[in-house]
Amino acid sequence: MSPKFEIETETCALVLAAGKGTRMKSDKPKVLHTLLSEPMLGYVLGALERLFGERIYTIIGHGADQVRAAFPSLSSEKFILQKEQKGTGHALQVAWEELKNKGLSKILVINGDTPIASTRGIEILTAAAAQDNADLAFMTLSLQDPASFGRVVRDEAGMVTAVVEAKDYDASLHGRETGEINAGIYLIDMETIAPLLGRLSDDNKSGEFYITDLIGLAVEEGLTVSGVSAGDDPLLLGVNSPLELAAAEEMIRAQIVRGWLEQGVVMHAPGSIRIGPRVVLDPDTEISGPTEIYGTSSTGAGSIIGSHVVILNSQIGPGSEIRSFSHLDQANVGENCQVGPYARLRPGAVMEEESRVGNFVEMKKAVLGPGAKASHLTYLGDTEVGARSNIGAGTITCNYDGKNKHKTVIGEESFIGSNTALVAPVTLGARSLIGAGSVITKDVDDDCLAVARGRQIQRQRKRSS
Ligand code: UD1
Ligand code: CA
Repeated sequence: MSPKFEIETETCALVLAAGKGTRMKSDKPKVLHTLLSEPMLGYVLGALERLFGERIYTIIGHGADQVRAAFPSLSSEKFILQKEQKGTGHALQVAWEELKNKGLSKILVINGDTPIASTRGIEILTAAAAQDNADLAFMTLSLQDPASFGRVVRDEAGMVTAVVEAKDYDASLHGRETGEINAGIYLIDMETIAPLLGRLSDDNKSGEFYITDLIGLAVEEGLTVSGVSAGDDPLLLGVNSPLELAAAEEMIRAQIVRGWLEQGVVMHAPGSIRIGPRVVLDPDTEISGPTEIYGTSSTGAGSIIGSHVVILNSQIGPGSEIRSFSHLDQANVGENCQVGPYARLRPGAVMEEESRVGNFVEMKKAVLGPGAKASHLTYLGDTEVGARSNIGAGTITCNYDGKNKHKTVIGEESFIGSNTALVAPVTLGARSLIGAGSVITKDVDDDCLAVARGRQIQRQRKRSS
């Protein structure tokens, strides 16, 4: 095996993510559009992180505050603001001012709309640039249809002479199109390229400063320019429109699903299963599609996920089953639990081992103790339920008084009769028994029965005749 290529510590990465993404026809910054519930920019940062660690900067502009807010773990100095978006070349000029005094020698620049660019692709570019001792290297792709991408122009000897944007391409000037395009990933030597930055011009069809003009300028100056071909790898394509977003998402989806199948996960209708890139599945998991599992979710050995399930940022313990049509968000399901069908676990729902929730049960900030059950039609909010308690059908914890949320505590081995309202704050002791149809507003001691409902009366009916 070839030794892993090491990126020098004087090289940093710069992600261009300030553009509006006009072709997305959306107010949302393009890099925040999601693939498998993760923002596009997250994929690019993830691929870079393995190589550059902390040395990653992101140029933001359009919707800058939204982009910052979407990555709360990144410190503010990792973002560089391009107030006016005058093109990719202008973005580089703005970043250069910030980066030039950081003791760096090279910048890897990557378009933020290239979500499937892999760590491997970036390694290939960096290794080829080092081998050629290039002043400027960039990745190219060969496409059947070069679409709106920048065209790579080479001379008879096969040396790159320029990259010409689609709008500005003129076959009489630039020659017959070859289908080779610029992928939007560049490795730039700061010392030799610095003098060219000020020579970028916006005298073109878009009226923008193009980073790609650096290529022609560098060739003119006799610098070493390498166009590193990645063949026809569609994984490096940029995303500019909803159509391209959908295609990229499908490509990533299929890749992730295939990876888990190879690891041993059993999938029924895998074509309809969507799993986010950060999800961790135990190889002994069984999933039926259509189902979506996103964020930092995980599953344990022997877990079964039914169809029409959505799981976000939730942990599913070993041996647990999530039945069809259940929805989990920031929930924690312990070992050997059963959820659904048709259950909803909202943030802070915790199910301890061997607990169960059935159809139309909603939990929010609520703990169901070991072996406890809420089998039908129940709302548990801001609640703790002790071990082995049984919550009858139609039990509602009334946790909200219109202003504040209050807590309900139910001791272990309690039995709550059907159609009970527990008006919080309220505490029921261990082994309490609540009569069906009660409205409980006062605490109940251990080992007690409480009934709070109108007594049944019986009278003879009056007859008119
Ligand atoms: C760009 C390249 C093109 C290449 C293609 C690959 C240029 C001029 N053209 O075209 O050769 O084939 O990518 O996908 O670079 N951005 C900023 N600030 C700006 C403008 C853009 O940060 O002022 C960012 C955008 O957010 C985007 C990236 O730069 O992530 C690329 O910009 P975009 O407008 O998408 O360029 P393309 O037309 O796709
Ligand atoms: Ca683009």
